[in-house]
Amino acid sequence: MRTPIVAGNWKMFKTIAEASDFSANVSKAAPIAGVEQVICAPFTTLPALSELFKGTSIALGAQNMHYAENGAFTGEISPLMLKELGVKYVIIGHSERRQYFNETDETVNLKSKAALQHGLLPIICVGETLAEREAGKTEEVVRVQTEAAFAGISADQAKTVVVAYEPVWAIGTGKSSSSAEANETIRYIRQVIASLYGQETADQVRIQYGGSVKPDNIASYLQESDIDGALVGGASLTADGFLQLVAGASGK
Ligand code: 13P
Repeated sequence: MRTPIVAGNWKMFKTIAEASDFSANVSKAAPIAGVEQVICAPFTTLPALSELFKGTSIALGAQNMHYAENGAFTGEISPLMLKELGVKYVIIGHSERRQYFNETDETVNLKSKAALQHGLLPIICVGETLAEREAGKTEEVVRVQTEAAFAGISADQAKTVVVAYEPVWAIGTGKSSSSAEANETIRYIRQVIASLYGQETADQVRIQYGGSVKPDNIASYLQESDIDGALVGGASLTADGFLQLVAGASGK
């Protein structure tokens, strides 16, 4: 059984004061069992959230990291720095980083391996652009991205990885993929992982859908056979929204 995982990706939103308000508001709500909950927050808010989330059911995530432990890499954050703060998850290869910050399949692989070596769990993002989808290349794109990301990762490590299938055209646009279509691509991604490690390992890897997931549509995704959770941007920014997402996922 794969435990559903709902992760909020706050992107470049929230000061420390705003993050603290969010934490105070979620702490008032009754805990929801059966769903792993993660907030991937901006670096500047991680020290505060690391304290504030103690004793809550929310695990802390980052949105990116460098693959080196340290070095002359101005402006970067290393796995050791995240570990020190009690960060558990780290998003790797989000399409916004691939699009705007030169993230490549190679750096996604280096970062994923470095995260695992340091006991951080990567949430590896894959997904096609609209042009790739219209050219019928969705499966090829996610296969190449998935194979590259997992290169050199052992089967035991692979079981702990979370993959997020986020079609680029569905991010922040309000245009979500239908749950059936998302499930088909996610099932294909699982087959790709099975071709690398065997079915038993592939069956343990959790694969999320991301792209305009909202409280009113999350349950339809989670009902699908292969969708194990959601990576959510906009709708995760309010405590109420996040709690509704988690509640919507708890029916799985
Ligand atoms: P939205 O939920 O705002 O579409 O963002 C999706 C996303 O990019 C999560 O990583």
